[in-house]
Amino acid sequence: MKAIAVLTSGGDAPGMNAGIRATVRTALTCGLSVFGVKRGYRGLIEDDLFQMRSTDVSNILQHGGTILHSARSEEFRTAEGRIIAANNLRNRKIDGLVVFGGDGSFRGANDLQREHGIRVVGIPATIDNDIWGSDYTIGFDTAVNTALEAIDKVRDTAAAHDRLFIVEVMGRHAGFIALEVGIGAGAEEILIPETVTQIPEICRKLQSRLDKGRTSSILVVAEGDEEGNAYDIAKKIEAQSGMKSRVTVLGHVQRGGSPTAADRMLATKLGYGAVKALLDDAAPCMVGVEDGSISRHPLADAWTRKKELDKLLVQLSSGLE
Ligand code: F6P
Repeated sequence: MKAIAVLTSGGDAPGMNAGIRATVRTALTCGLSVFGVKRGYRGLIEDDLFQMRSTDVSNILQHGGTILHSARSEEFRTAEGRIIAANNLRNRKIDGLVVFGGDGSFRGANDLQREHGIRVVGIPATIDNDIWGSDYTIGFDTAVNTALEAIDKVRDTAAAHDRLFIVEVMGRHAGFIALEVGIGAGAEEILIPETVTQIPEICRKLQSRLDKGRTSSILVVAEGDEEGNAYDIAKKIEAQSGMKSRVTVLGHVQRGGSPTAADRMLATKLGYGAVKALLDDAAPCMVGVEDGSISRHPLADAWTRKKELDKLLVQLSSGLE
């Protein structure tokens, strides 16, 4: 292997830049040429690649977002799109590709290797933390801390006005963010797609707390909860109990900002691990960090295996009255 490319795909995640830096510098140290691809698979199809030097990744690790930009590409989902992408890589004699993203991005990478023999490695990067094979994904820790800081502020105003607040955090299909944010913020209720949300029971508990003199409450809801988003939950609670609430949707604020120390360490380990895997492995793989060590798993595990929530955290999420 003489040259590799790196791209970021899907939703951006704080720490991607630290990961790009580690990938580029590890590759250069190993004697490889490195190309950056702009806007994920879209840039791969449009041949928007540029050769990267060590200085191209100077002073980026502390910044959120991704210097390579990210996008979702419908065309890359087609065999025709992947032929164009593979030809663009071959024309530059690039035979390895590092993909930062989630399971959707990894599926595309897997197809690229299967159909065209371009060696690929996936790096789990999404604030949702819903990828099997790595204890954490790049961006999760930062997103949790961003949301915590916001909820601490909401708590002040909730207490001042004796109000019920419903705070929505990201997590279209998973409750990892809501669970850790809810516990960290001492939320009175945490609503996640993985557990059954019972509105009547929530109303009963809210009333019982009111009766005990706890005049303000915060509910944290994952956007993908089966009972709906924060506005839906607010309406259902009011319809069943008459209790009014204020809704705060944290949204994309959770995707930005300077990565935490934990995300910088994780991204640096994974960038390094991805280049080493490309040099060693023939099969498409994903690198992760499990129990502090870099691990490798078949790329397909990322979408065929389901990452479970921490059972103790789930227990704690409903246990502390
Ligand atoms: O990055 C993952 C995620 O944040 C989900 O939790 C969320 O539903 C989604 O991305 C929204 O992303 P976009 O607005 O970029 O489509």
